[in-house]
Amino acid sequence: MKILLVGSGGREHALGWKLKQSPLVSALISAPGNPGLAELGRCVSIKPDAAAELAAFAAREQVDLVVIGPEAAAAAGLADALAQIGVPCFGPSKAAAELEASKAFMKEFCMRHGVPTAEYKVFDDAVHAKAYLGDREPPFVIKADGLAAGKGVVIAETRRQADAAIDEILFLRKFGTAGQRIVIEDFLPGEEASFFALCDGETAIPLIAAQDHKRAYDGDKGPNTGGMGAYSPAPVFTDQVREQTMERIILPTLAGMKAEGRPFIGVLFAGLMITPEGPKLIEYNVRFGDPECQVLMRRLKSDLAPVLASAAKGELATAAALEWDESPAVTVVLAAQGYPDEPLTGSVIRGVEKAGAVEDVQVFHAGTKQDDDGLLRAAGGRVLNVTATGATLREAVAAAYRAIDRIDWPGGFCRRDIAWRALN
Ligand code: AMP
Ligand code: GLY
Repeated sequence: MKILLVGSGGREHALGWKLKQSPLVSALISAPGNPGLAELGRCVSIKPDAAAELAAFAAREQVDLVVIGPEAAAAAGLADALAQIGVPCFGPSKAAAELEASKAFMKEFCMRHGVPTAEYKVFDDAVHAKAYLGDREPPFVIKADGLAAGKGVVIAETRRQADAAIDEILFLRKFGTAGQRIVIEDFLPGEEASFFALCDGETAIPLIAAQDHKRAYDGDKGPNTGGMGAYSPAPVFTDQVREQTMERIILPTLAGMKAEGRPFIGVLFAGLMITPEGPKLIEYNVRFGDPECQVLMRRLKSDLAPVLASAAKGELATAAALEWDESPAVTVVLAAQGYPDEPLTGSVIRGVEKAGAVEDVQVFHAGTKQDDDGLLRAAGGRVLNVTATGATLREAVAAAYRAIDRIDWPGGFCRRDIAWRALN
């Protein structure tokens, strides 16, 4: 198989690392890739949202399978463009990606198909939105409808904060057209968990649990980020929660999407709140979580390539069951100083090879760039993902931090408490 992997982050490096181990994979091409992926195969500088260009490239190169990493590629219609020319694609069509691209669509879909989620209302004008808050209790949850790079959600403790958030999104267009509409929903108390399933339009295969840390600083303090680290397994995710999530959330979603003419192919990533009444859906993503994917790939024993190819072709029902390593895994994100608000890029990073030489450690590149002198430099907010396995989670965490201590990068920082919830 010749595989085209779309994306450039730590998630994609982990997917490429796993795919390249397959005896079935003869070549891996990444678009646009990163210095880590460049060690695994060719990188071509085509942006993930350039759907037509990517499809033309896949046809020219006679690629056997395209694997979509980021939602931007799905939302741009890459899977649709590939379907037209008959290239198998693991990733959702534009219509199926609406589950992530529009929160209003997602909420209305849940209502139509009985998927448990917080009560909500959609607004496109501030006056009605604010009036609605008058009958509700804080905290208020206010969300921009569209894709806002994970920043479009405000949890407001007071009416004043809520009103300000409504004005910023609807009136000042803080998130551009992603904020043409807002969703206001009830606050769900409970513990959060992430759930991933591979889907082929009809059949879903659940993956093992992985949990990320969203806040930038130790103790789950500081601003929200895309994720500062992740661990697997995740103790909140009991067998009962898994069964309830499949029965009440994932399977009705797959059946509903098919019935509505938007069959879902790819990774369905459910952000859940585990409430006293069971799991409720906070949001859907239509891709692997980043950095959750990194720990999942470290624990997956089965060959990934044939599974993704089966999903792309609607043949998951007959695919072999996935096998997982018993060893827990952890990944720690090294981010550029200033992340998430204003990451300082360009600083030199040394010692990545020494870190990767630590036993049971794998370093994935997320936002790095190799300069003309061969120096590795920071080129994004989240820059490296130091990933480790161990006989116990505690040992995995110790190995990851041992490796991090070999990295010489004054321009970066990381959390020192990744996986603390699971360790306590
Ligand atoms: P989202 O981008 O929808 O995942 O929201 C970002 C974060 O806001 C989530 O990870 C939750 O911590 C929180 N959140 C979103 N919706 C709710 C809700 N209805 N109740 C409680 N917390 C929420
Ligand atoms: N780590 C959460 C996400 O990928 O959205």
